Formats: sequence, C-alpha cells, structure tokens
Amino acid sequence: MRVARPDDADGMAELLMNGLGDKFRPALGGGGGARLADLVRREIGRGETYYVVDDARGLVGVAHLDLGRHGSPASVRELAASLGWARTMWALMVWSLIDAGRRRPEDAYIEEVVVAERARRRGLGIALLEACERGARAAGRGSVRLVVVWENEGAISLYRSRGYSVVASKRWWLGRLVYGSRGAHLMEKALSAPTGAGRG
Ligand SMILES: CC(C)(COP(=O)(O)OP(=O)(O)OC[C@H]1O[C@@H](n2cnc3c(N)ncnc32)[C@H](O)[C@@H]1OP(=O)(O)O)[C@@H](O)C(=O)NCCC(=O)NCCS
Repeated sequence: MRVARPDDADGMAELLMNGLGDKFRPALGGGGGARLADLVRREIGRGETYYVVDDARGLVGVAHLDLGRHGSPASVRELAASLGWARTMWALMVWSLIDAGRRRPEDAYIEEVVVAERARRRGLGIALLEACERGARAAGRGSVRLVVVWENEGAISLYRSRGYSVVASKRWWLGRLVYGSRGAHLMEKALSAPTGAGRG
C-alpha cells in the first residue's frame, strides 16, 4: 500500500475503468480511459489523495480519498484541462445524478475503491478502506462517507463489515437511465479521534 504517484495514472485509470466503468463511461465517453488517466495524473500532481496497491504484474488496487477539494473551482478547471469544457459540463451534469448530496466539512469521502479481479477476496479492499480512514483521521475528519449502488452487494458487505452504516438511501430516476442502477445508499463510518498511539 502506498500513496499514488503521477506515473501510476495509466494503470489506475485502467483499474478504475475495469472496476467502475459504469460510473465513468457515461461521463467520459469512448476513449474514457485516456481522459481518466490524464485527469488522475493532474489530480495527483496537485495533491489529491489516492492510494494504490501493486503486485509483481502491476497495480491491483486503487482508492480515492476526497478531502473536500472536489467541486471546487480549481478542480473544475482541472477537469476542463483534461476533458475540454463541453465534456466537463456534461460530466458534471452526469455525475451530479449520483452525488453524495451536500458535503459537510467534517467528513471525508471515499470516491472510488477498486481491486483487480485477479486479486479480490484477499483483504485488499479492507486495506484500501483502512488507508483512506487513516488519511481522513490524519486530516482531522470525524467521519468517512461513500455512495454505493443498491445492486453492489459485495461492496455493501465489505463496508458493513468495516463498520459503515447506511445514513440515507435514494431511489434514482434519471440516474437509473444513465447508470442502470435503481438507487444508491450513502454510507458513513464515524472515526475515532487520533490518539497518537498509532492506532489503525
Ligand atoms: C468491492 C471490492 C473493492 C472488494 O475488494 P476485495 O479486495 O475483494 O475485498 P476484501 O477481500 O477486502 O473483502 C473483505 C470482505 O468484504 C466482503 N466482500 C468483499 N467482496 C464481496 C463480494 N463480492 N460478495 C460478498 N462479500 C464480499 C466479505 O465479507 C469479505 O471478507 P471474506 O472474503 O473473508 O468473506 C471489489 O470487489 C471491487 O473492486 N469491485 C468492483 C469495484 C466496486 O464495486 N467498488 C466499490 C464501489 S462503491
């Protein structure tokens, strides 16, 4: 487990498109992998927090911890630099359909967690969640939130087993047409305050 570097971006985009193509394809369109790689590279360059796991063959896990920079004017400009303004407007509209709602400054958000198929059910999903939680705690956040579609039973089991619970649940109408899911849960886990004892 390590913090991602800009030169991980191609591998990360491939993992993200393979694992969460349903989320990225509607916004990024054909050739979305290259667009996503460019975007991820820029985000890492300005300090956005991504964690990755590698094995001998390459990247096998990625998680994105959003500490509140998303949606800022700077991040929108960055999106436009990668996608162009027309595609950016489209992507923001499409992503707004699955938004976690009003963001609270005391929360951190896990935007994406993906483990390569060949490496699943070995605890990497848990390790990535724990890395995000440590990062959130170190940034002084009191809880971590994430959005998961109702149909993603595997991910929901993972989150429940790590102490996340559903705080809101929303049926999608337009989102259903775009993403093929009936709705999504907003899940949350409260974090214990840092103790300085190296817990985690
Ligand atoms: C969800 C995902 C990240 C889990 O990664 P993983 O490395 O396989 O997860 P772990 O090995 O850490 O699983 C830990 C526990 O979570 C639960 N779990 C994980 N995947 C599960 C599945 N498909 N079905 C049921 N339970 C599952 C189990 O309790 C598991 O413990 P066990 O293997 O001892 O039974 C992975 O399946 C994935 O990348 N999916 C595609 C992308 C995705 O949907 N991401 C989540 C978006 S919100």
